[in-house]
This record gives sequence, structure tokens and C-alpha cells, in this order.
Amino acid sequence: MQPLVFITGASSGLGQALALRYHQAGWRLALVARRAEEMHHWAQSHALTADHYRVFAADVSDEASIIGAAEQCMASLGLPQVVIANAGISQGMDSAIRADLAVLQRVMATNVLGLAATFQPFIAPMQAQAQVHNAPPFTLVGIASVAGIRGLPGHAAYSASKAAVISYCESLRGELRSTSGRAGVRVVTIAPGYIDTPLTRKNKYPMPFLMSAQAFADQAFKTIQRGSSYRVIPWPMGLVAKLLRLLPNAWFDRVLQNQPRKHREPL
Ligand SMILES: NC(=O)c1ccc[n+]([C@@H]2O[C@H](COP(=O)([O-])OP(=O)(O)OC[C@H]3O[C@@H](n4cnc5c(N)ncnc54)[C@H](OP(=O)(O)O)[C@@H]3O)[C@@H](O)[C@H]2O)c1
Repeated sequence: MQPLVFITGASSGLGQALALRYHQAGWRLALVARRAEEMHHWAQSHALTADHYRVFAADVSDEASIIGAAEQCMASLGLPQVVIANAGISQGMDSAIRADLAVLQRVMATNVLGLAATFQPFIAPMQAQAQVHNAPPFTLVGIASVAGIRGLPGHAAYSASKAAVISYCESLRGELRSTSGRAGVRVVTIAPGYIDTPLTRKNKYPMPFLMSAQAFADQAFKTIQRGSSYRVIPWPMGLVAKLLRLLPNAWFDRVLQNQPRKHREPL
């Protein structure tokens, strides 16, 4: 039986590119997003048949919906070897405007709680299965962002959500790592820089090291297969992110002072 990957946010951008990369490597796909038609259309346009993929329509910000999809997946296709919590939204906000608290709530519900709820139903079955002799490695993958490494003006909701994803996945990695005599579940955090998808096409500022979604997916696939704990893609963005992390606040503030900020997008 071919291995199975469960991917949220599979109706667009990085999710679709990851699905294609896993399909090319011979994996079965469990595709998850709210727009089921979009996923069926994509699969048919790549000549995928029912043996290759299954669609699970779910909203990751609704705990019952995403947990239901995970349970249906395990009941009908079996336990995935890899789960990629990729679904996410990005929305600019103005922290002085009361209505924008709803933006923060929505972004957190999707990017943070949605990721935790995506992983949760798989953790105990993966831990149990990992103990079986010759079991393949099981991996949970969190898609973060370089925007989570330092807070960006106008991007408070998104930066905060992705900082939470980075810390959450790090905590989870510690919780699930192998201990003496007991195989663990791997946790991989991937922080994309700027990747060309519908999410970034609406940005009105320069996007250094912009990369195609397919090139991203290829590097992400290799990172996940290796079980690396954390990786920024593309790597030059990783260097920039590390330097920004090391900059004292006064210098960081000066660097950002004259940069265009993320524009506000009311709900
Ligand atoms: N592109 C970049 O440069 C970049 C950089 C850093 C991080 N990221 C992260 O990468 C991930 C994918 O981004 P992308 O660029 O591929 O964006 P995208 O093209 O806008 O795709 C977002 C995907 O998330 C799904 N989604 C959104 N809300 C959802 C919900 N409540 N329930 C289920 N699915 C939901 C969407 O599907 P439906 O609308 O059909 O539900 C869609 O498939 C996100 O987590 C994003 O933050 C992207």
C-alpha cells in the first residue's frame, strides 16, 4: 500500500503544490480545505484517479469539522504517515480599530487553533503505531512563516499567529520525541519566505527571494522526508530572518521605519 499524506489548505497555493509533489513521489493524498470542488477540479486536471486521492471538505477553524475529517480519513484510508497543517490566512489589521480585533480572532482560530486541531486526532494513533516493529516514521508538519520570527507592522495578527505556530510545534516536538526504547513522532516546522501563491499576490510591497510554489514544495518534501526539525525556505530568507532576529530592537525598528506596512483588510 502506498503511503498516505494528509494536507490541509489543499485547494490553493502551497497545499496544491505539496499535493502534486507527494503525488509525483507515489503517495496517496488526503486533501482538506473548505472548497471541495476546487480540490476535485485540481485533481482531475492532473489526471488523478480515485486510487490517488480523496477529498475531505473541512474548516480548520471549526474543531468538530477538522477532527471529523481526520477521523473519516483514518476510517476510510488508514493512518497517514505525514500530516501537513498548511491551511492559513493572512490579513492586515490596524490595532487602533476595535473591529480589527475580529481579524486577530479569525487569524488565530485558523492559523493556530486550526493547526493544533489538525494534529490532535492523529497524535495518539501515531504514537501507538510507531511502537510496531519496522513501522515507518510518522511526521507532523506545521507551516509557519518568516513573519513569525519578528513582528511586522500592520501584520500583528499574522505575525503573532505564526510565532505561536513556531513555539507550538517546538513544544510538540519535545512532547513527541523518541525516548529510550520508545519510538517517537517527528515534528517538522517549515517557515516559508515569500512564495508565489494567491496569498502573496495581493501584497503591495517588494517580496525578496520570491520563489515558485513548486520549487518550494520540492524543498519542503525533502525537508519532511529528512525529518529536519525546522527549516526556512528559501534558505537566503532564512539568513535574513536570523540576522533580523539578532538585531537589537532599536535597529530593527529603524530598518522597518520607512518600509511599506501590510495594508489593512477589514473583514
Ligand atoms: N505564500 C507565501 O509566501 C507564504 C509565506 C509564509 C507562510 N505561508 C503559509 O503557507 C500556508 C499556505 O499559504 P498559501 O500561500 O498557499 O495561501 P493560499 O493560496 O491563500 O491558500 C490557503 C489555503 O488555506 C485554506 N484555508 C484557509 N482557511 C481555511 C479554513 N478555515 N479551513 C480550511 N482550509 C482553509 C484555503 O482553502 P479554502 O479556502 O478552500 O478553505 C487554501 O487552500 C498558510 O499557512 C500561509 O500562512 C505562505
